[in-house]
Amino acid sequence: MPIQWRDQFSVGNDLIDADHKYLLEIINKAESCLNQHQHPALVAVLEELTHYGQSHFEREELVARAVGYPKADQLHHSHDALVQSLAQFRTDLGESWTPEAGTRFAAFLRDWLVQHVIKEDLPMKPWMAKFSPRFDPRT
Ligand SMILES: [Fe+2]
Repeated sequence: MPIQWRDQFSVGNDLIDADHKYLLEIINKAESCLNQHQHPALVAVLEELTHYGQSHFEREELVARAVGYPKADQLHHSHDALVQSLAQFRTDLGESWTPEAGTRFAAFLRDWLVQHVIKEDLPMKPWMAKFSPRFDPRT
């Protein structure tokens, strides 16, 4: 079952919400590759997730600092940990691709996203609320 976007996931900033919606789409794509045992397609999707994830984390840290979020440094460290855990899992999966590993991987990706959005990002909401949802520190 694909994960659906819910309004409760919104941090109150359009830039970050759009990124999260796209990350969710990539993870749904990865899950569909896993279900259909399309290993080469999965590798490409995970590559996309790694790149998009990293650029999202940079954008998000920029917004977090611009709105004065006091735990921006902590956010940066947890982003590093998320990048590393994804890289490690990709390595492990590349060496031992089995349907069981695929199932574990689908669970890992969901947790990865939920851990990031729910636990790390939603606490920023009160700081985001002081600005317009269209706030973009780059413009
Ligand atoms: Fe995020």
